[in-house]
Amino acid sequence: MIKIKNLSKKFDKTLSLDNVSLELVKGDAIALMGANGAGKTTLIRSILGYYHPSSGSVEVKGLDPIKARTEVLKHVSFVPQLPPPIKLSLGELIYYVCQSSGVEEARIYHYATQMKLDVKANLHKSFFKLSGGMKQKLLIAISLAKESEIVIYDEPTANLDPKARDDFYALIQESQKEKLTLFVTHRIEEVESIVNREIYMDMGKVVSDERC
Ligand SMILES: Nc1ncnc2c1ncn2[C@@H]1O[C@H](COP(=O)(O)OP(=O)(O)O)[C@@H](O)[C@H]1O
Ligand SMILES: [Mg+2]
Repeated sequence: MIKIKNLSKKFDKTLSLDNVSLELVKGDAIALMGANGAGKTTLIRSILGYYHPSSGSVEVKGLDPIKARTEVLKHVSFVPQLPPPIKLSLGELIYYVCQSSGVEEARIYHYATQMKLDVKANLHKSFFKLSGGMKQKLLIAISLAKESEIVIYDEPTANLDPKARDDFYALIQESQKEKLTLFVTHRIEEVESIVNREIYMDMGKVVSDERC
């Protein structure tokens, strides 16, 4: 589903990705690990078409994520590490997501409830004003409601308490089949039972890639 060939990305003098080649296939549930600055977020942003490669190429379902960004993003659910500063109310945001991505509103409510987020009580509140954990829960609910073939989480549990983490992993486990799931994480013990592939990066390179 995702083919990365000899991908390098340079910002001024920093080589953030150094000749990375990876093939990510359906059914892969991947833990992407490595120290801060290893290049994980740059790799994800390259997959999402945010960055032009300095050299090499990225293909998502056979498409160039820069040239065919809209088409590519239809197949992808992405939860960033830091929630975007969205000023819309929850009601407006959910309406927007449903209209723009064809997501069923009832599914967002369903997953929000599973994540113990009371959407109805907060419908008129700005997304911006929710706590970090509430934002994360809503973004997770939307990502699951979207039923994408490719699901990418950049440190999804960073703002969640232990109970919410358990809820999240239980939901992931039941929704995961037939997908490609990529987690950036510093806590391998949390995802160990869910993933079947562990990729480590260091200084812009993939230093290990093992099926487990
Ligand atoms: N937009 C950018 N502009 C300049 N340098 C960047 C940018 N994004 C990332 N970098 C640099 O690239 C390297 C890898 O960063 P990043 O991909 O965010 O690592 P990670 O997500 O593994 O912590 C770091 O040295 C970082 O400073
Ligand atoms: Mg990062």
